[in-house]
Amino acid sequence: MQNTKAYIAEHKERFIQELIELLKIPSVSADSAFTKDVIAAAEAVKNALSHAGCDTVEICETDGYPIVYGEKLIDSKLPTVLVYGHYDVQPADPIELWDSPPYEPIIKKTALHPEGAIFARGACDDKGQMYMHVKALEFMVKTQQLPCNVKFMIEGEEEVGSDNLGIYVANNKEKLTNDIILISDTGMIANDVPSITTGLRGLSYVEVEITGPNRDLHSGLYGGAVANPINILTKMIASLHDENNHITIPGFYDKVEELSKKERAEMAKAPFNINDYQNALDIDSVYGEEGYTTNERNSIRPTLDVNGIWGGYIGEGAKTVIASKAYAKISMRLVPHQDWEEITKLFKTHFENIAPKGVTVKITPHHGGQGYVTPIDTIGYKAASKAYETTFGKKPIPQRSGGSIPIVALFEKELKSKTILMGFGLDSDAIHSPNEHFGVWNYLKGIETIPYFYKYFTEMKTI
Ligand code: BES
Ligand code: MN
Ligand code: MN
Repeated sequence: MQNTKAYIAEHKERFIQELIELLKIPSVSADSAFTKDVIAAAEAVKNALSHAGCDTVEICETDGYPIVYGEKLIDSKLPTVLVYGHYDVQPADPIELWDSPPYEPIIKKTALHPEGAIFARGACDDKGQMYMHVKALEFMVKTQQLPCNVKFMIEGEEEVGSDNLGIYVANNKEKLTNDIILISDTGMIANDVPSITTGLRGLSYVEVEITGPNRDLHSGLYGGAVANPINILTKMIASLHDENNHITIPGFYDKVEELSKKERAEMAKAPFNINDYQNALDIDSVYGEEGYTTNERNSIRPTLDVNGIWGGYIGEGAKTVIASKAYAKISMRLVPHQDWEEITKLFKTHFENIAPKGVTVKITPHHGGQGYVTPIDTIGYKAASKAYETTFGKKPIPQRSGGSIPIVALFEKELKSKTILMGFGLDSDAIHSPNEHFGVWNYLKGIETIPYFYKYFTEMKTI
C-alpha cells in the first residue's frame, strides 16, 4: 500500500470531524423517542458511503430501522469483502454520570489514550469503529488502491437484537454474496498488544415475573402469612448458582465445549495483570466460577447474570408493603455449541419448577443468538494477522471475547461465509456505560490497518 500514513496524516482532522458529526446524532434504537434520529443516522451513513466512493448506496427499509447497503464492485473475478457494522447506539442513561453530554462529543486525554479520545455515546460501539471502514474505503478509492470488491451493510438495530437484519440477510443472499465478512465491533488487548477476536459468546435474555397475592398488601397484616414475591424471586435467583458459582440449571453445561489443557495454556499466554484489572474497577477481588481464570470466566465459560430487578416500594422513606409482583431481567452468555433457544427452554422449565406454591411465574424470552468461533488457519485470519503485523509491528494474539454479536452466527448459516473480527477498541473504553470513548490513535490505526487486510486477503485469495 502506498501513502497510507501520509493520506491519514493529511486528512486526520477531517476524519475526526466527520465522526464527531455522526456522534452528535442520538440514534438510540431501544427508545422510540429517538426514532427520527435513528433514521437521520442512516441517512448520514448513506451519504458518507457515497462520498467515500461506493457506486451504489441504498437505504433498505425493514419493519424496523433501515439497513444501509453500499457497494463498489470492480471486477467479478476478484474477491468480495462484506463489511458489517451498526449505526444505532445504546441509551445514554444514567445521563447524570457522564462528565460531558453524551451527544456533544469532545476529545480528552486519558491514561490509556495519551493522544486523546473522543467521548460520546457510540464513539467506540460502533460508530467510530464502523466509520474506520468508511474512511479506509475512501483512502483506497481516492488513491486507486482498492484491490477487490466491497459491500457495506450497516444496520440500525444491533443493540436491540438485529431481528430485521436476519430477515434481510435471508432474503438477499445473492446480493450479499462475499468471500469474507469484516467487522470492527469488538476490542483488542491494548494499544501495544494487538489482538484479533476469534470468538463471541451467544446470548439468551429472559424477563421473569413473579406474582403472589392479587394486590399489594399491608406488610404487618399479611407479612409472614403469604408468599412475598420479592423474597421468593431473590431466593430463586440466588439458587441459580451453587457455592462454586456453577450454574444449577439442569442440562445447562451439557453442550459446553471443554477446552484442552493445551488450548487453555495458549490462552493464558495473553498478557493480563490481575491488580490492574481490580484497580481499574475499584474491587478488592475478582469473583466467579471455581476452577477458571478471569480470562476464561469472561470468554470460554457460560454465565448467568441478573441485569435488573425491581418491585415493591422504592420511593422516599419507608412504606410497609408486600408487593403483588416482582420482576427481573436475566442474561445468560453462552459458549459455542450451546443453543440459545434450548438454553432458554431449560431456564424456563427450571425456573417454573423451583417456584414454591403461593406464587405464579411468567417468563418472557427476549432476543438471543448463537456464539461464534473464527478458525485461525484460514486466509481471512492470516490476512488480518499480517495487516496488524504491518501497522503495529507485532503479531496479533488471537483472543476469544465475552461479548455477543448474534448476527455473526446467522451470517455463517445464511451466507456460508466466515467473519473476521478486527476490533480496535479497548475494554476500558466504557461501551454501554457513561463516558464511552474511543482513542483517536485507535481510530486512525484502524483506518491504517484495514486497507492492508484488503490487500493481503486479495493476494492470498488470488494466488
Ligand atoms: N459491539 C458489541 C459486542 C461486543 C463488544 C463484542 C465488545 C465483543 C467485545 C455489541 O454492540 C453488543 O453490545 N452486543 C450485545 C448483544 C446484543 C444482542 C444486544 C451484548 O454483547 O450485550
Ligand atoms: Mn456493537
Ligand atoms: Mn453494543
